[in-house]
Parts: sequence; C-alpha cells; structure tokens
Amino acid sequence: GFPEYVKIVEVGPRDGLQNEKVIVPTDIKIEFINQLSKTGLSAIEVTSFVSSRWVPQMADHTEVMRGIQQHPGVRYPVLTPNLQGFHDAVAAGATEISVFGAASESFTKKNINCSIEESLGRFEEVIKSARHMNIPVRGYVSCALGCPYEGSITPQKVTDVSKRLYGMGCYEISLGDTTGVGTPGSMKRMLESVMKEIPPGALAVHCHDTYGQALANILTALQMGINVVDSAVSGLGGCPYAEGASGNVATEDLVYMLNGLGIHTGVNLYKVMEAGDFICKVLNKTTNSKVAQASFKA
Ligand code: HMG
Ligand code: MG
Repeated sequence: GFPEYVKIVEVGPRDGLQNEKVIVPTDIKIEFINQLSKTGLSAIEVTSFVSSRWVPQMADHTEVMRGIQQHPGVRYPVLTPNLQGFHDAVAAGATEISVFGAASESFTKKNINCSIEESLGRFEEVIKSARHMNIPVRGYVSCALGCPYEGSITPQKVTDVSKRLYGMGCYEISLGDTTGVGTPGSMKRMLESVMKEIPPGALAVHCHDTYGQALANILTALQMGINVVDSAVSGLGGCPYAEGASGNVATEDLVYMLNGLGIHTGVNLYKVMEAGDFICKVLNKTTNSKVAQASFKA
C-alpha cells in the first residue's frame, strides 16, 4: 500500500540552479528560497559548499545561507563534499548537511575528483564532525539506476555504497537516478536489493526526468514503502558532471500526483507554482512542469 504522508525534499535552489550557465543574483536566490519556505515544504536544499571553480553557480553559498529567512519547521540542508565544505557550511549557519557519493567509480572521479573509497573516507570525517555538533547528515548515492560514463550499475553496488553511508550514521540515503535512465523495472530491482540492508523508512528517491520516467519510478518506490521524495520546482535541475542529464521531477507534478492518491504532503500546489513561475521568469525559461503548463495562471 501507499504511505499516508510523503515528505518532499525540494532541491530546486541547489540541484535546480547548479547547472544554469547564467549566474543567478544572490538576492534572487534568497527570494526564491523565501518563497519556497511559505509553501508548506518541510525541507529545502539551499546550496552547496563546493569549489566555485567546479560549480560557479554555488559560489555565493555563504551569502545565500546567511540571507534566507528560516521558517520554523522547515529544514535547510546543504551539500558538503569534504571537511572544508563542512566547516564553511557550519560557519554560514547550516544545521543540516548532505554528503554525496555515487555507485560509479567514473562518476565519482568526474564529480568530486576521487575514488569511491576515498570519498567514503572523506564522508566519514565529515559525519564524525557533524555528530559532535548534533548536525544530521543525509547521504546521496548517485548513479543508482545507471551511470553517464559506465552505463548500467548493479543493484549490489548501489547497496554496498548505501550500506556504508548508512553505517557511518547518515539518517537517510537518497538514491539518485542522476541521468533519469531508470524505469519502474530497474527501480524495483534496485530497491529490493537496497532494502535488504536499509529499512525503507531511511530511504529517499531522487529522480531526474530525462527519459520521462520519473513519476512512474517514484510511484514504484512509494508502492515499496518509500515515503521521502526529492523534487525540484518547475522541473529544474541537472548535474554539471552528468552531461545530458535534464531536470528533476517537477515538485508541482509530484504534488499533483500525491494529491490525486490522497497522500498528504502539507504542500500548497498553487504556492509552489508561484515560486516556479518566479524562478522561470528569472531564468527566462518555460516551466518543465506539465501541471504548471496546464493550470497555472499568475
Ligand atoms: P579538488 O580539486 O580535488 O580539491 O576538488 P582539492 O582538495 O585538491 O583542493 C583544490 C582546491 O579546491 C583548494 O584550493 C581547496 O581549498 C579547494 P586552492 O588551494 O587550490 O586555492 N576546495 C574547496 N573549495 C571550496 N569548497 C570546498 C573545497 N574543497 C576543496 N568544499 C571538490 C574536490 C570536491 C572540492 C570538487 O570536486 C567539487 O567541488 N566538486 C563538486 C561537484 C558538484 O557540486 N557536483 C554537483 C552536486 S552532485 C549532484 O548533483 C548529484 C545529486 O543531485 C544526486 C543525483 O542526481 O544523483 C546530489
Ligand atoms: Mg540530482
């Protein structure tokens, strides 16, 4: 059966913007996040404390983190690849972080310039430091349904990396279909494997919609007991180190589907569409959300 409540992790300000070539002004990012904070979302990924040489769009992470109005009841995680990023994030006021690994050697090398094993060593340091400060850590596993460099990735590899991160103390593992190549079939096989080691209550799915499979893949995950789903308003998103990856599943489309299933999210669909309209106008883009295309009137 389906869960009664699904927690949506809005990744628009981070995943949604990181791949945009034109640098979005810091005050616009802050306004965007402040709008999202008023939609009923309970988690909004704000930015990444990564190298500005690698991801120029995230260079203003400190200003964005400091500039937003934090709403009670909303969590504002940020990405931290290593101890330097962790310390910078804490100095900027972050109270929740995410480490981001992958189930592919080649992707790990391209994305964070080290091997999987080295990355796990770095994450362990970060997680230990976070634990001393009572900072919860989420763990991403990218390439969970395929890799842009290696093609197919075995469910066992995804399980191995997920288990390591969970064992280190990540409270939740977000399984990323980085390039959106998965289908309900591969999602089911991957989750069956991972769920032998990690309870469904500690898993999330993070689906890019490159092949138009994201909602179907999410539905499959919900049927298997997953109740945390990542999405980005307007279907923004992509990873600079996964060429050809298009946006995340649109938050609007996810909320619409969950509403139709009678699954609670606490999220106001119209307010999310307003935030999506705001950022699309800034980016000079039309929304990737089918629901917003069909029903949004400013
Ligand atoms: P590196 O070049 O190997 O780092 O980069 P290094 O340790 O050799 O240091 C080189 C320089 O980088 C030094 O500066 C360090 O201080 C600096 P220099 O002395 O030369 O002036 N440096 C940093 N600067 C700022 N913040 C830091 C940091 N660390 C070192 N944290 C590094 C390694 C990890 C930093 C780099 O590869 C990087 O920034 N990668 C980020 C890539 C990224 O953000 N990718 C997108 C997010 S992942 C994603 O989108 C997938 C996801 O959505 C899930 C899915 O869809 O599957 C999460
Ligand atoms: Mg992503």
